Amino acid sequence: MTELTAHAEPCTVEIDAVGHFLDSRQRIIITIDGPAGTGKSSVARDLAHRLSLDFLDTGAMYRAATALAIDLGVDLSDEDAVADTVRSADLRFEWTTDPPTLYAFGRPIMHRLRQPDVSARVSPVSSLAAVRKVLVERQRRIGEVHQRLVSEGRDQGSVVFYDADVKFYLDASPRVRAARRAEQLRRMGQPADLDAIEREITDRDRRDSTRAVGPLTCPDDAVRVDTSDLDQAGVVESLVRLVMARV
Ligand code: DC
Repeated sequence: MTELTAHAEPCTVEIDAVGHFLDSRQRIIITIDGPAGTGKSSVARDLAHRLSLDFLDTGAMYRAATALAIDLGVDLSDEDAVADTVRSADLRFEWTTDPPTLYAFGRPIMHRLRQPDVSARVSPVSSLAAVRKVLVERQRRIGEVHQRLVSEGRDQGSVVFYDADVKFYLDASPRVRAARRAEQLRRMGQPADLDAIEREITDRDRRDSTRAVGPLTCPDDAVRVDTSDLDQAGVVESLVRLVMARV
């Protein structure tokens, strides 16, 4: 694993030079894993833009699985029933929108993904082995078709695309992640207790990294990026530079 500290030098490469440098026919899979609150999704999306790659949000797929199970009245603790539902929903992305629009049973499901009931129940659903099996297969099929991809989640570099060309693991201290979450809540007009949020984050990290299937882990061959003292633009610049150095 390589460490990238907050003191990495700023990228000095012109944006145009990036597109020029990456051959548009070349297969390139970049994975970005890490816990919530590290800015992973925004960074992954920006990185994909910068390098003209597709962007896969695998958290959206776990959220869709949860929304479908809730809406169809499936018992969320019955992993085979949830997995069957996800399989028959035939989750697909429409790649012409930004971000790509996720469809289930042929209908867009994006409006459900961040609703509170889904957010509250997605973590246990994502620890169901049978559900992970269906979604990991689906993500690998997407990777076969979209061979120029930034894929973001928890197990993308360790399980789904273990042969990825470049792997990143984004991290930040629980306190910083809690402060970012508290800020989001305040912006939505909701109360935020920083200490309580930090405790929740620490508990969830422990659950996610000790679960039996697809645990949150930093692969040995990933570049670990601590985003505690970096803003989003700074993180993306560092990642662009590292991709160019690797590819
Ligand atoms: O990144 P997110 O908050 O949208 O992820 C939603 C949930 O799905 C979260 O509990 C982590 C889980 N997840 C996972 O277990 N594996 C992935 N590849 C992506 C997300």
